Amino acid sequence: MKIIAANWKMNGDFEFTDRFVREINSVAPKNVIVICPPAILIGKFRDFRHQIGAQNCFWKESGAFTGENSPRLLREAGCRYVILGHSERRSIFHETDDIIFEKYKAAAANDLIPIICVGEKDPKNREEVLERQLAPFLKEPLRKAIFAYEPVWSIGTGITPTRDETEFALEFLRNRVGDVPLLYGGSVNGENAAGISQYKNADGLLVGGAGLKIEEFKKIILI
Ligand code: PGA
Repeated sequence: MKIIAANWKMNGDFEFTDRFVREINSVAPKNVIVICPPAILIGKFRDFRHQIGAQNCFWKESGAFTGENSPRLLREAGCRYVILGHSERRSIFHETDDIIFEKYKAAAANDLIPIICVGEKDPKNREEVLERQLAPFLKEPLRKAIFAYEPVWSIGTGITPTRDETEFALEFLRNRVGDVPLLYGGSVNGENAAGISQYKNADGLLVGGAGLKIEEFKKIILI
């Protein structure tokens, strides 16, 4: 059984969500499915037979933080998971490794399972970047967490790393974070999902664009 998470980013709408929920409810995957829609759409998943996650959360539960999403309220709204440290959060919103670690603690304290994204911009710096991004998480025993290896150069490009590269990165994570689920993300589609999910140490996939194409996503979740 694999974990298949989908990050809709700032895409999808109300009508699409209704159709998506109906269609995905009609198939019976043996894998764990986690949809991470924009926060505004979370309430539309009430009848969904699978799991829901957020794409981000704040590091405090409540207070004067206009525009932020509380991990406690995300949990109350039905989220079980939250993506943290996605490369778009890191590059566009300047989230640092320490900020992501604070968010991880807040998420875990509110019974959300964080899906922590790590990955390099340039394959030449893979080890160095992974080491730096993981560092805050290695200071104390990890609570519940999932890590996703998402090489930035593979996100939305249609280019995936070789099997050797992905297995190297996943083993690198495994040796540091231990026995928590590890996902691969970056240009996963209906054609490559089954193969990548069989790589050593791959416990699942984090899907971007293909999570918004209903027929293709069905193919992925039925691997
Ligand atoms: P992609 O995105 O599958 O469209 O490459 C992956 C992600 O950003 O998590």
